[in-house]
Amino acid sequence: MRTDTPLTIYRKDYTPPTYRVDTVEMGFDLDPDLTRVATRLTMRRNPDSRNKSLVLFGDSLELVQLRMNGKEVGKRGYTLTNGVLEIHNAPEQVTLEIETATHPNQNTSLMGLYTSNGNFFTQCEAEGFRKITFFPDRPDVMAKYTVMLRADKSRYPVLLSNGNLVEEGDLGDGRHYAVWEDPFKKPSYLFALVAGQLVCQEEKYKLQSGREVLLQVWVEEGNLDKTQHAMDSLENSIRWDVERFGLELDLDRFMIVAVGDFNMGAMENKGLNIFNTKYVLANPRIATDTDYAGIESVVGHEYFHNWTGNRVTCRDWFQLSLKEGLTVFRDQEFSADLIGTESGRAVKRIEDVRVLRQAQFPEDAGPMAHPVRPDSYVEINNFYTVTIYEKGSEVVRMYQTLLGRDGFRKGMDLYFQRHDGQAVTCDDFRAAMADANDRDLSQFELWYSQAGTPHIKADMQYDAGIRTYSITLTQSCPPTPEHAKKQSFHIPVAVGLLDRNGRDMPLTLEGQDNADNGSAQTTLVLELKEQSQTFVFTSVAEPPVPSILRNFSAPVVLDVEYADAELAFLMANDSDAFNRWEAGQRLAMRRMLALSAAVQGDHALSNAQLDEGALGNAFRATLRDTTLDPAFCELALTLPSETVVAEQMDVIDPHAIHAVRVFLRRALASTLKVDWLVAYQSNRTPGTYSPDPVSTGKRGLKNLALSYVLEIDDADAHRLAQNQYDNANNMTDRIAALSVLVNSTAPGRDAALAHFFEEFEHEALVIDKWFSLQAMARNTDVATVRELMKHPAFTLKNPNRARSLIFSFCNGNPAQFHAVDGSGYEFWADQVIALNAINPQVAARLARTMDRWRKYAPALQEKMRAALLRVASAGALSKDVLEVVTKSLA
Ligand code: PHE
Ligand code: ZN
Repeated sequence: MRTDTPLTIYRKDYTPPTYRVDTVEMGFDLDPDLTRVATRLTMRRNPDSRNKSLVLFGDSLELVQLRMNGKEVGKRGYTLTNGVLEIHNAPEQVTLEIETATHPNQNTSLMGLYTSNGNFFTQCEAEGFRKITFFPDRPDVMAKYTVMLRADKSRYPVLLSNGNLVEEGDLGDGRHYAVWEDPFKKPSYLFALVAGQLVCQEEKYKLQSGREVLLQVWVEEGNLDKTQHAMDSLENSIRWDVERFGLELDLDRFMIVAVGDFNMGAMENKGLNIFNTKYVLANPRIATDTDYAGIESVVGHEYFHNWTGNRVTCRDWFQLSLKEGLTVFRDQEFSADLIGTESGRAVKRIEDVRVLRQAQFPEDAGPMAHPVRPDSYVEINNFYTVTIYEKGSEVVRMYQTLLGRDGFRKGMDLYFQRHDGQAVTCDDFRAAMADANDRDLSQFELWYSQAGTPHIKADMQYDAGIRTYSITLTQSCPPTPEHAKKQSFHIPVAVGLLDRNGRDMPLTLEGQDNADNGSAQTTLVLELKEQSQTFVFTSVAEPPVPSILRNFSAPVVLDVEYADAELAFLMANDSDAFNRWEAGQRLAMRRMLALSAAVQGDHALSNAQLDEGALGNAFRATLRDTTLDPAFCELALTLPSETVVAEQMDVIDPHAIHAVRVFLRRALASTLKVDWLVAYQSNRTPGTYSPDPVSTGKRGLKNLALSYVLEIDDADAHRLAQNQYDNANNMTDRIAALSVLVNSTAPGRDAALAHFFEEFEHEALVIDKWFSLQAMARNTDVATVRELMKHPAFTLKNPNRARSLIFSFCNGNPAQFHAVDGSGYEFWADQVIALNAINPQVAARLARTMDRWRKYAPALQEKMRAALLRVASAGALSKDVLEVVTKSLA
């Protein structure tokens, strides 16, 4: 914690480390109150570095002893200010021995060494290693680690660290030890240790090459019935990375450990991945289909980091997206490939784009907007963002769209050939892609350096005389905090043209030689590089309906003036499933914005306004089309979220948006009541629960249908939901029923909530759902949330629990959060300040809730600003929170 003005770190200031570290030996005497750490580093001066002082970082550490080349370094031999330890005039070769002490039990930040339910865990990314020992804690310092753990044997029977277990034994007086050696050099942020009472599911797994490896999933006792899915996901990940990218597991042993107190989703420590329990534990009783999918993708994500992040790592934290964007792209492709079907891939793509629009587009338009490769930061923890991750993944995906799958693979191969074992930059990745394919990707660099979501306007013209169809694409990008004016991006725009029967036309682009291409293509990737470019298609027999930005080929906003009828036509016919969904969303968005304007003009909403649009008909057609994949239907029949609608308004009116969305859902519920009931009945999944894509899709559609039926809120609807709640054999169906009951006036509402709590009282992850569901319920106001905080099961100290109630309310219940009296904002400020004292990272995430305050009506804006100012002037603010609120108010 600090109250002085925090320092801004700039990318342009990067200099190589003055000293390299060859080996790291560590000895831990684990004790929850006071853990002693002895570290021996062998270092040598970097010949490229002119600066001779040896620089180490430490944070909240007690320095017990410091020895250099066998001699104690006295107080005059070093300076230690603001966590920077500098040894002046160190010789070229240095062996440094450092003894430090830390207090794991008091560490509520969950960075460095901490305890969770009595067990020890570490979290070192980004700068947590310096809370364990003094070290040149930066990712471009890679070294080999040997770690000895010592602890009480009965209390901490399991002792784990990175790499291979090379020795273990008893020490007498009830203590024991284990020595771990990691054969690969790694940056300090990938260091990990785990110690405590844990049990594991393990398997011997034979790699494609024939080598056998040991796979383990470690959990607290009592959870071994919840590890199978994580283990299956791990095996699938190992297999997939070889098949798709030729990348094999390089270790003899790969461990996953689940911990209940964790700031993020999971962490890719070399050979010892540490996971939030949320992304490990699953069985049908406690986990939903969404949880199962989340586990699969996070297990994949962390595993894939072994190559993209660990073997090749980042030169500095500005390059974070080098590993994160690429690894998100890889986990997205992994999940898509596992589903296998074309419609399944499209569903996955739509879900990923939904996240981008819901979270990244607002970020990119707000006060924390930053490029995929930022130029500066105050607190690196604040840059684990949807821009770095999800937009970063879109940027990587664009290489594949531009170069093709094979070209992308060639680029990956060259990337590893050049950089295995190195700490590199986003430019190095781009160079590998360009060089492997002999392509000029220099303009593509702007995706890394310019923030903001580009807009593309598409104007079309058909010339019947010469049968040409031209598409003029014009790009622009709104100003963001760092750049007012933007240069033109290199944007792949995938386009198809539909004939009057809804079939794809074969495409010929003027000036392009399609002669040797036997079968005519029906989707072409146009490369927009200028501010405005016209692409002319020839031999177009009739005026087509254009399908632009197929499969969301670039992370942009596309403006096209479609008529309602054209959107309905695309929704019914486009061969590109993404754009079929997109057409429906455009139609819905159009209605929602029009109705919001009507509500603001004090016009009463009536069903007539639904019928005016093509929306009701389009929904009916989708519901009745039995050839459609249920998972796709569910997405197509879900209205844009309140947050996504809000982003489309010049002045956000959360109450109007909420009223409109509820109104539309009710109208669609009654107009299509019979169809919803048919969908409900015909998508049941009787028998044993299975989280496979087909069953998941059916449950999704069935439960969406249930939620529409419950909008009618009559006794029949209540009975349907109550029945499902009572008879559910899996959490997906159970929580879906509970959630609609809670939003209804059903007589069984309160009893169901109480029953659910009792039934799952000892399943922390399910109790999180219980809080979250109530936080997001329509009639839950600030007072109710404050009441819920008094529940004995609530605590701010556990990030999952804090998120389940507080974040769910502040981010997931906009109509109540934005209460006109400002009580939601006061609640927000109270919680940011309370969390700041416990866990700055979690507090700073919550602080981001206020990002878009300038977009709201003046009355709300004033109250939001007041709440922000209250936080900004609170004492002892962490630099995490300070950076967020300062940028918000700037
Ligand atoms: N590197 C982790 C991931 O992407 C995320 C993480 C960051 C976890 C910082 C903990 C702390 O998977
Ligand atoms: Zn990651």
